[in-house]
Amino acid sequence: MDKPPIPTQPQDGYDLYSDRYVNDPHAVWDDIRGSGCPVAHSDKWGSSWLPTAYEDIHKLAHDSARLSSRAVEFAGPIPEVGGGLFFAPLTSDPPDHKPHRDLLEPWFTPARIAAIEPFARERARTLIAAMAAKGGGDVAREFSQPYALSILTRLLQVPDDRQARFMDWAIRVIKLGPFDQELRSAAFRDAFDDLDQLLAERAAAPGDDLVSHLAQATIAGQPISRKHKLGSLLLTILAGADTTWNAINGSIYHLAEHPDDRAKLVARPELMKTTAVEELLRVFAPLTIGRITSEEVELHGRCIAAQERVILAYPAANRDPAVFDQPNEVQLERKRNRHLTFGTGAHRCLGAHLARMEVRVALEEWLQAMPDFEREPGPVKWGSGQVRGPENIVVRVVPAHGS
Ligand code: HEM
Repeated sequence: MDKPPIPTQPQDGYDLYSDRYVNDPHAVWDDIRGSGCPVAHSDKWGSSWLPTAYEDIHKLAHDSARLSSRAVEFAGPIPEVGGGLFFAPLTSDPPDHKPHRDLLEPWFTPARIAAIEPFARERARTLIAAMAAKGGGDVAREFSQPYALSILTRLLQVPDDRQARFMDWAIRVIKLGPFDQELRSAAFRDAFDDLDQLLAERAAAPGDDLVSHLAQATIAGQPISRKHKLGSLLLTILAGADTTWNAINGSIYHLAEHPDDRAKLVARPELMKTTAVEELLRVFAPLTIGRITSEEVELHGRCIAAQERVILAYPAANRDPAVFDQPNEVQLERKRNRHLTFGTGAHRCLGAHLARMEVRVALEEWLQAMPDFEREPGPVKWGSGQVRGPENIVVRVVPAHGS
């Protein structure tokens, strides 16, 4: 039987790939929140529902019983049950989710992350020094992308001579997006070939690393499948790549345009560890994620049927004026900052310690080498898709006074 038509509200019909949404989704979310009904529906790019209030997004993120993670894309066709990407634990539901997450958890503890920090600092220093020496450059291409990816390949202990291959397919998978299926499948094939090889090598000669651990992992005494191993490894790379580099791009973009905030961080570097990185992560939150309702869900009098897509726009929650004073302003000393940049509930980001360390080290090293810099004039291009950030931040060093 055909589904009955969905009663409409004034702010329904948002278009996730429109120029308006891509360039300024905050204005779209503000309109929806201000319309009297903070949840909108759209049929563009597949039927979906978009809650925009912090409280609703928080509540839904905790509701794994009624909202499944089996398809986390925010647009496109909803795959049949069991037919989507298998990226455990991101795409796992209870009761599988916890054991799937537990397999990865030991590799993301504060102690493990602290051990990676010297490597991250060294990478940041080298990449930034090269940019500073020529008076500036493209932040994404020359710094944030190679920085974030090299930390991920380090985490997986990828041999030096294969790192460029890993980075190449990671960028292809991320940049091609869901609409170039053929090219994307080729990138996935390359990824699985390389990850398969790594798993086979570590199974033969295990070390103290995440790949070796997954190569031999069991759940309830049973070895996990090859599909599970590959999915979790690829997830680790994909979940930690453009999320992190976009958060860094957003932060550097802000600092390039706000000399007062730059000066504040140079004068008071301790703010990085207390409030500043958290605030930049709140304002430049990159990730929006999808859920599929497993039963009917009512929200503000609207009835979301089973098997409908719900979009958890964590960046929208972060700008809700009911929770954050002056939500669109960066306040580097903001005290109350319960942002949802890393999600909340069972699926909250497993890599949050790593991401926070990466962003902090990136900014510390940047301001050390280039305390004064500005952005080349011109419009900012924001990436479209569910990981958002400024893509074309080209900066130049401002010479010190008198030099
Ligand atoms: C600034 C950077 C990052 C942001 C903004 C971010 C954001 C998020 C968010 C919002 C979720 C929850 C998804 C949901 O609700 O379904 C998530 C999950 C996850 N993230 Fe991150 N992430 C970042 C960096 C990383 C890094 C560096 C890694 C690891 C290398 C990582 C690994 C994961 C994993 C494995 C999950 C799935 C957890 C689960 O489903 O139980 N993330 N991330």
